[in-house]
Amino acid sequence: MSAAVAGKAGSVDLAVIGGTGLYRMPGLGELEAVVVDTPYGATSAPIRRGEWHGRQIAFLARHGESHGVPPHKVNYRANLWALHQLGVQRVLALNTVGGITPAFGPQALGVPDQLIDYTWGRISTYCEEAGTPVQHIEFDQPYSASLRQCIIDAASATGIALERGGCLGVTQGPRLETRAEVARMLRDGCDLVGMTGMPEAALARELGLDYACLAIVANWAAGCDPAGESAVAITMDEVLANVAAVTDRLPALFAALLQS
Ligand code: HPA
Repeated sequence: MSAAVAGKAGSVDLAVIGGTGLYRMPGLGELEAVVVDTPYGATSAPIRRGEWHGRQIAFLARHGESHGVPPHKVNYRANLWALHQLGVQRVLALNTVGGITPAFGPQALGVPDQLIDYTWGRISTYCEEAGTPVQHIEFDQPYSASLRQCIIDAASATGIALERGGCLGVTQGPRLETRAEVARMLRDGCDLVGMTGMPEAALARELGLDYACLAIVANWAAGCDPAGESAVAITMDEVLANVAAVTDRLPALFAALLQS
C-alpha cells in the first residue's frame, strides 16, 4: 500500500535509516510504504512504517531500495524532513563504513561520538533558501548522547559487541579513498570512514531530532588492513558479505532499543 502524507501522521518510536547493503528493515517482513511530500523533493525511497514489538517503527533506505542513489546525490534534507513529518523523534542511522583504527575491523559495530566532515558541495542546511531564518546549531557533540546510551545499553542487554565511541570521517565518495587520504584521516583522529554521515547528522540537529550513528564496518579502509602489502583490494562483494553477516545481529539490538 502507498499513501501520500501531507502532515504529521502520529508518532514513531524509532526511525532507522539503512545504508549500503541494508535496504529493508532487518527482521521485519513487508511494511506499509508511505510517500511523504517534502519542500525539498523526493525521499530516497518510500518510508516503510509499521508496528514491531508493540512499538511504531519507520525505515528508510538511504540509497533507495535498489541502491540507485550514490552518497553525494542522497536527498538528505528530504529524507530527514519526511521522517520529522511522520512524528519521528529518534533516528538511528546505520552507516556502512571502512575501519581505520585496530578496534574497527570488518564486521565490528560501533557508536561513534564524533565526526569530521570532508564532504563538499552537498546542501548541508535547511537555511539554504533566501528568507529562511539562519540557525547556528550547537554541534560540539554531533550525536544524541541519550540515544547513543540507549544503543550501548541495548547492546549490553543482548550481549552484542559494540565499540563505544570513535570518530567517523565522512568523505565525498562515491569512490573509495586513497591510502594517503586515509593516512591523513588517521592523523586527524578518525577511526572510521564512510560517505553518508554528513550532512545527515547536522540536518537532524537542525530539526531537533535525537540522532545517532550505528556504524557497521564492512572492510579495512585503504592501507589499514593488518595484512599490509598482502592485503587484497576492497570489493563490493566483500562489503556486502560483511554487512550481511552483521545484519543477523540487528533485530535483537533493535528490539532491545525499542524497549528504551
Ligand atoms: N570508505 C568509505 N566508505 C565506505 C568504506 C570505505 O572504505 N567502506 C564502506 N563504506
